[in-house]
Amino acid sequence: MTIHRVGVALEPAYDIHIGAGALDLVPEMLSERRRVAIVSQSAIADLYLDSIRSGLANSEVFLIGDGEEAKSLSTVEGLCRNFAEFGLLRGDVVVALGGGVVGDTAGFAASVYYRGVDVLQVPTSLLAQVDAAIGGKTAVNIPEGKNLVGAFHQPIAVAVDTDTLASLSPREYRSGLGEIAKYALISDFGISGTGLIELLNNSTDLVLARDPAVLADLVAMCCEIKAQVVAADPYERTGIRATLNLGHTLAHALETRGGYELTHGEAVSIGLIFAVELAEAAGRISAETAKRYCSVASSLGLPLEVPGGSEVKAEDLLAIMRRDKKASGGLTFVLPGKDGLQLVDDPPTDALAYAFRCVGVGG
Ligand SMILES: NC(=O)c1ccc[n+]([C@@H]2O[C@H](COP(=O)([O-])OP(=O)(O)OC[C@H]3O[C@@H](n4cnc5c(N)ncnc54)[C@H](O)[C@@H]3O)[C@@H](O)[C@H]2O)c1
Repeated sequence: MTIHRVGVALEPAYDIHIGAGALDLVPEMLSERRRVAIVSQSAIADLYLDSIRSGLANSEVFLIGDGEEAKSLSTVEGLCRNFAEFGLLRGDVVVALGGGVVGDTAGFAASVYYRGVDVLQVPTSLLAQVDAAIGGKTAVNIPEGKNLVGAFHQPIAVAVDTDTLASLSPREYRSGLGEIAKYALISDFGISGTGLIELLNNSTDLVLARDPAVLADLVAMCCEIKAQVVAADPYERTGIRATLNLGHTLAHALETRGGYELTHGEAVSIGLIFAVELAEAAGRISAETAKRYCSVASSLGLPLEVPGGSEVKAEDLLAIMRRDKKASGGLTFVLPGKDGLQLVDDPPTDALAYAFRCVGVGG
């Protein structure tokens, strides 16, 4: 098996191991650990637990629920109590086997149990493989907001088995493609220059067909971009890491407003189109660049417009965006431009109106 290795240059540094069959590497990675607490969800455990567990001497499995409701403080308390009953000590390790919900919740539990035990991230959804499992952000939700309680807790390593993507539902796969479209735009604006946009353009059919070789390359390119950004700004203090929120200002507003049948990645896809059109209308990028990018999103089958957008008032979405936790007062967007991706405050009203029209809001 060919395994790509991408380093995350932090202190301590860690590696992301990417490729078909990477699950088989997990027992060897943990061979020195006395106890291994594996956190997963039942559907994922049924499919993938045996591959890692059969090679581990002393492991226990703790299942959590599905969906955002499971990302809660009560789940974290339950896990910590499970860990204590199992006898997990500071030198032992937690394995997060699942999508972003498992990764964020198990990662946060590991960050607080015994004031911090090691965690190995083993992401199984496309979104978690290219994004959530890398960079050490862990969090759970409280009724007042999503991801409001969390910690930075870097994993000891990330094992990304792209074979697990074969069992992902078409919707969840498309959701991951939304984040990949984000990386295409990020790499196009000079953060990394990995050739991602060319791969997406030249191999669209293979990407959509989940071709194993193309998937391994695609995921590795995205991990490379995320690793570079995280290493440059591990605690999201300089604004570099905030560029990963490209497309997320509108996406979060759509998710907060609710009432759409959109996954996170689909909302991000619409948010990216909005950001690109806003950048064009504000004179930051050419019409040709905006068009080239929009064609990548459309060839991946991602939504380009807000469903039922003609019934939605731009002002309602703007009000939600002004409350966005990343905003420094007014409205803040990550936008492409000739100097790369930048945080831009309060873009011109007519440019905003144009961008809303481009994503079908307000008729
Ligand atoms: N920490 C970060 O930096 C970061 C970044 C982005 C997103 N996130 C978080 O990630 C979460 C979303 O992650 P997600 O999209 O993976 O959602 P998810 O974890 O809910 O997974 C989606 C669904 O797919 C299932 N699934 C996962 N892998 C599967 C597989 N291989 N085969 C079959 N089914 C599988 C899950 O059980 C679930 O039902 C959100 O809570 C978001 O806040 C975190």
